[in-house]
Amino acid sequence: MQWLEEELRRIQEQHLFRKRKLRESLKDFCSNDYLALRDHPEVKEEVIKTLKDYGLGSGASALVSGYTKQHKALEEKLSSFKEVPSCLLFGSGYLANIGTIPALASEGDLILSDQLNHASIIDACRLSKAKVLVFPHLDYQNAEELLKENRKHYRRCLIVSDSVFSMDGDVAHLPTLLRLADEYDCMLFLDEAHATGILGQRGKGIFEEFNLKWQERVILMGTLSKAVGSYGAFVCSSEKLIEYLINKARSFIFSTSLPPAICAGAKKAIEIAEREPWRVQRVKNLAESIYKELSKIGFSVKFHHTPILPIMLYSEEKAISLSEALFEKGVLLQAIRYPTVPKGEARLRLTASLRYTEEDLEFLYTSLKTLPHLPLTSLPFP
Ligand SMILES: Cc1ncc(COP(=O)(O)O)c(C=O)c1O
Repeated sequence: MQWLEEELRRIQEQHLFRKRKLRESLKDFCSNDYLALRDHPEVKEEVIKTLKDYGLGSGASALVSGYTKQHKALEEKLSSFKEVPSCLLFGSGYLANIGTIPALASEGDLILSDQLNHASIIDACRLSKAKVLVFPHLDYQNAEELLKENRKHYRRCLIVSDSVFSMDGDVAHLPTLLRLADEYDCMLFLDEAHATGILGQRGKGIFEEFNLKWQERVILMGTLSKAVGSYGAFVCSSEKLIEYLINKARSFIFSTSLPPAICAGAKKAIEIAEREPWRVQRVKNLAESIYKELSKIGFSVKFHHTPILPIMLYSEEKAISLSEALFEKGVLLQAIRYPTVPKGEARLRLTASLRYTEEDLEFLYTSLKTLPHLPLTSLPFP
């Protein structure tokens, strides 16, 4: 299998080779467990209790026999938390996107997609067979020009955007997206993977952030795997739309449903987030103080009042060598490179999490200040 060796060598030469790191002996500064809910004692207790009742797996897809009171209760919790009439669980965020987007738009339809949307959205758009037009990141003027020119040639139209962009931490401008969807008769699909538990005063997501109410043409997708600290995903919209997805979204129909204990744990985590809204504000304050500290050290960090703090290095080689040097010190901070971000936009994706103690943060700052072979003066500034 010579091709395999050649391919791997090529990946390595471009500094794009990926490998996993066992995290147990490292201090993890790049997880998405922003609110520190994944091992909250009440979450663990709820999971163990449900596991004792239900066992491990759900046993089948939701349309066969894998739909339980635990699934239904979580769907109801999510639709009340997101303030949207109905909700459907999926096995993961990736599955939610590749199931829902092609169910909403197909041949003869148009999809408008932000350039920095998550890879699962890109794959979903490819699967859909719809005409896909990508607009430059957050450039809604460009999006509108594309709509003006193209909307009339297609049957249905779907505008797709992350709410919080996963590698940059910036936020879509909901009022403009709603206006475009309204004026050009489009559906609006928002990926709330990093917005759920984070945006708005109580972490309800992008509608709370902009003090707006959900509208019928909007489809909200979110994951349970980030601030909720669990696994799985959901799509919230009107009852009719959810009925339609139950019948049409292939990754829902043809995939085993979430384990009941995972659903129970996720529901408990949302209840804690609702009961303790200080978590949302505290993680944002923490992100701001980390951002200030890193800027003082001399790093170029993006900050948009979300817990995602990319340390920009621009060079794939620098990103990987810095990540490896930190690893040697016991810090887990993975290099994010192409194709996760565009070429030349490599970075370390640091995240703020309520998991960190004062000592953890001191350890991070000291580790970053004392990197042996990469003088900070060599880091480019925008
Ligand atoms: C914006 C966005 N959408 C979707 C996903 C996929 O979610 P999951 O990890 O649950 O498959 C992720 C995370 O990886 C994400 O960041």
